Amino acid sequence: MRRLLRLFRHARSLRSVPLGAVARRAATLLPDYLGDGSSRSLVNITLELTYRCNVQCEFCFLKDSVLYQKRDELTVAEIARLADEAADHGASFFLTGGEPFLRRDLVEIVAAIKERGLKVGVNTNGLLVNESVGARIREAGLDYVIFSLHGPREIHDCLENRKGSYDKALANLTTFARDKGRTRVFANCVVAKRNSAVLGQVPDLLAHLPLDGLTFQHETFLTPKEVSQHQRVWRKLFPERELPMVYQSSGYGDRDFEAMEREIATMQGPEATKRWPFPIFFKPGLEGQKLRDWYTSHMRVKGRCLYIWTDTRVEPDGLVNACQVMPTPMGNVRETPLDELLNNEPYREFRRKNREAGGVFPACARCCKLYRNPINFMAQTPAWQGWVEKPEPCDRDPASSPAPSS
Ligand SMILES: C[S@@+](CC[C@H](N)C(=O)[O-])C[C@H]1O[C@@H](n2cnc3c(N)ncnc32)[C@H](O)[C@@H]1O
Ligand code: SF4
Ligand code: SF4
Repeated sequence: MRRLLRLFRHARSLRSVPLGAVARRAATLLPDYLGDGSSRSLVNITLELTYRCNVQCEFCFLKDSVLYQKRDELTVAEIARLADEAADHGASFFLTGGEPFLRRDLVEIVAAIKERGLKVGVNTNGLLVNESVGARIREAGLDYVIFSLHGPREIHDCLENRKGSYDKALANLTTFARDKGRTRVFANCVVAKRNSAVLGQVPDLLAHLPLDGLTFQHETFLTPKEVSQHQRVWRKLFPERELPMVYQSSGYGDRDFEAMEREIATMQGPEATKRWPFPIFFKPGLEGQKLRDWYTSHMRVKGRCLYIWTDTRVEPDGLVNACQVMPTPMGNVRETPLDELLNNEPYREFRRKNREAGGVFPACARCCKLYRNPINFMAQTPAWQGWVEKPEPCDRDPASSPAPSS
């Protein structure tokens, strides 16, 4: 009975998972997963077009590392060449940043990708998507856009640390959605400390718009303990590789979980489809103790990452990373053909070590890429869990330590 209940809960949480894309990933993956770490499939490229940004979100997972860095950004011609290589796989592009609309050539970039017959979407804080830019990017063939909106006016402005950003973003989203044509339009709200008790106001603010969906992304962050576990596991698995810096972000800590649960239940309840004209998804779907654990516990992470087998992440200057969270530089598309990079020895080693580790690392704890694998609940506890629960070996002689005072 308990097993059945668990399966039922799991099936409900899957509503936020794009099952078509997952099935495609799984089908291309199976033969590769048993091999030497090579992958023949490439489903999507996350292309970070710039690390420049016009706001300062307090939860941004890039803000303590690369955000605001000036990089020698890939040109339209270089991105077109990358799209040629991606076209051999039929891979799609997800354009993000920093703020992608700070690139004055964004419309040309989208056009270059579309000319090669590939799907392309963009994620934006919406501040620069005025009527004219919106019309031009739709004309270029943009498949979908995700506007960030993190709560009612005062909260959104405070989270982005910029007065007036809510009014501007909502005005631009309203115009874009009104004229959307064939471009699908989504809104995304990060569940942060400041907005967690008023989440239910977000769909009301958007209810007048012909949106294709609203997602709530639970904030991703790592606790100091998870960072330290990550460092121990990384040193053991990759003694030759540089230790990648990972973010901590602002999410850890208590909040009004009862209010949060009430808001979530209303948005997922039977009345939701009557009240709001678009589907609402939570990423991942969390409730009860799982919701509390996400924000107030160190995660005992389990699952299998598909991303490193089927997707890749390219930084603004062409540096290719295997992982969404950790800097895992594998080479640069400016210098090396993409296919060669995706299966070079460091990349294959990364996939093999991930597989040996049980499909996850400690830094995967709240990664949005992990939680889109629908069969995570079947995964075993990763092998490294035992190593990190033992105390860190200490090279100091205990006899020379001062006696603990009572
Ligand atoms: C890094 S931003 C870049 C795109 C654009 N600047 C924006 O904010 O929409 C990509 C997405 O990550 C989300 N995001 C940023 N920090 C996050 C965090 N710590 N947890 C969850 N989502 C986060 C943003 O809200 C946005 O939807
Ligand atoms: S707008 Fe996007 S990139 Fe800029 S700070 Fe916010 S989340 Fe980060
Ligand atoms: S699940 Fe882990 S390995 Fe996969 S992309 Fe996320 S952080 Fe990287």
